[in-house]
Amino acid sequence: MEIIIQPTPEAGSIIAARIIARLVRENPDSVLGLATGATPVATYRELIRMHREEGLDFSRVTTFNLDEYVGLPLEHPQSYHTFMDEHLFRHINVPRGRIHIPDGMAADIPAECARFEAAIRAVGGIDLQLLGIGANGHIGFNEPASSLASRTRIKTLTAQSRADNARHFDNDLAKVPMHCITMGVGTIMDCRQVLLLAFGENKADVIAEACEGAISAMNPATILQMHPVAKFVLDEAAGAKLRRRDYYRYVWENKPEWQRL
Ligand code: F6R
Repeated sequence: MEIIIQPTPEAGSIIAARIIARLVRENPDSVLGLATGATPVATYRELIRMHREEGLDFSRVTTFNLDEYVGLPLEHPQSYHTFMDEHLFRHINVPRGRIHIPDGMAADIPAECARFEAAIRAVGGIDLQLLGIGANGHIGFNEPASSLASRTRIKTLTAQSRADNARHFDNDLAKVPMHCITMGVGTIMDCRQVLLLAFGENKADVIAEACEGAISAMNPATILQMHPVAKFVLDEAAGAKLRRRDYYRYVWENKPEWQRL
């Protein structure tokens, strides 16, 4: 695990965008796993800037998103299809045919989940998966008690996750979907690299547990301790409760030049 603590969310987002951009420049056929939510928005903004100003090319990139609500039409303003289009896809040159987001409107949800897993396998797996983290430790929508070996499947959102997302649904809990399709924890663990972003003091407790606590399905993010290439990019506030934060800073500051971005 590599824990990179930056002074601000903006600085962390620039590091995250550079990690992704370096991968895409080194391998234009990269397969990227993407996330929604508030956390990655500034990273997407920086990638868009790099596309416009530095010619960062996504024309051969393939993408897979972590999750989607069940029962929301794809064009619904709060669907993750709409989110990704607004915050990234319409601003860069990734071909539509290379974008994969679970279809929460599929008539046969288990078949859709199997199709999504098969599509990941067909392109040889995901090179880098971008992640946020829920205050309860969820990654994707793998809520506490999710199997740490799970694959893409339907999940019931916790009351907390629905309440957290109600702000996007006119603060009306009744409008927040009850179910989602999400990549499983096992699906995420199969990605060759994971890049988890967390910003703000409301993530400090869960980050301390995810990085320094015991591995447990009660905090699914703890399994990332077992991932061979997991980077956590945090701001000061999200890293504030890490017992060894001075050590993580020391490691980052003393990286050999060739490992720096
Ligand atoms: C998003 C996702 C979720 C979010 C998490 C944090 O696709 O799967 O795990 O990353 O809920 O959300 P924010 O970034 O809004 O705090």
